[in-house]
Amino acid sequence: MMNVKIAPSILAADLSCLGDEIARAVEGGCDAFHIDIMDWHFTPNLSYGPAVVETVRRLTDLPLDVHLMVDNPLEMIGPFADEGSDYITIHAEAVDDIPEALGAISKLGVHPGITVRPDTPVEAVMEYLELVDLTLVMSVYPGFGGQKFIEDSYERIEKIADKASKTNPSLIISVDGGVNMYNAPLLVRAGVNYLVAGTTIFKDHKAAENVRRMRGILNCEL
Ligand code: DX5
Ligand code: ZN
Repeated sequence: MMNVKIAPSILAADLSCLGDEIARAVEGGCDAFHIDIMDWHFTPNLSYGPAVVETVRRLTDLPLDVHLMVDNPLEMIGPFADEGSDYITIHAEAVDDIPEALGAISKLGVHPGITVRPDTPVEAVMEYLELVDLTLVMSVYPGFGGQKFIEDSYERIEKIADKASKTNPSLIISVDGGVNMYNAPLLVRAGVNYLVAGTTIFKDHKAAENVRRMRGILNCEL
């Protein structure tokens, strides 16, 4: 059986009861939490800052994977590292010197990750796969939860998985956006080993059931 991680994206959680939402996802057996940071510049939406990472850090010991959808991510990595991020993923489009940015994240004791928007050729991350612990394939446009999965993401995942198998076999290959019970096993077959899912997991305050259901589908179909 493949070891596939499930990381609920708290963007879709009910913030009025975040502690309960997280506890339910943990009870269902999730492996990590994905936290989306949006700045209204890189994305047409604004989410939250380091205080929310600090809050989630107090609510769970599971790894926190922070996705910085912001301009100038280097200005922000310090506070996000200080509040307990385990992984910080930056967009290749948002920095001038990618190796320098990834090195700055590592220096803070945080695992570096790299991603690109769905309309940036995936080749933009290929040469950096050896420098990161996580790469994320965005399967929707950055900015909002609940969007429709972009089908050509499978091909992008296959390209990355193929390259990573040669250059960084322990790489976490993550997919983010529109992940659901139907496409989850197909995405794993294409090469991901880490599924980010917001709406599918937190829908109807049923995170425990939904994590278990996704795990059951993966166990049964892979
Ligand atoms: C989109 C975010 C995603 C989002 C996924 O900009 O990066 O992490 O929360 O949400 P769903 O799973 O609802 O598509
Ligand atoms: Zn995300």
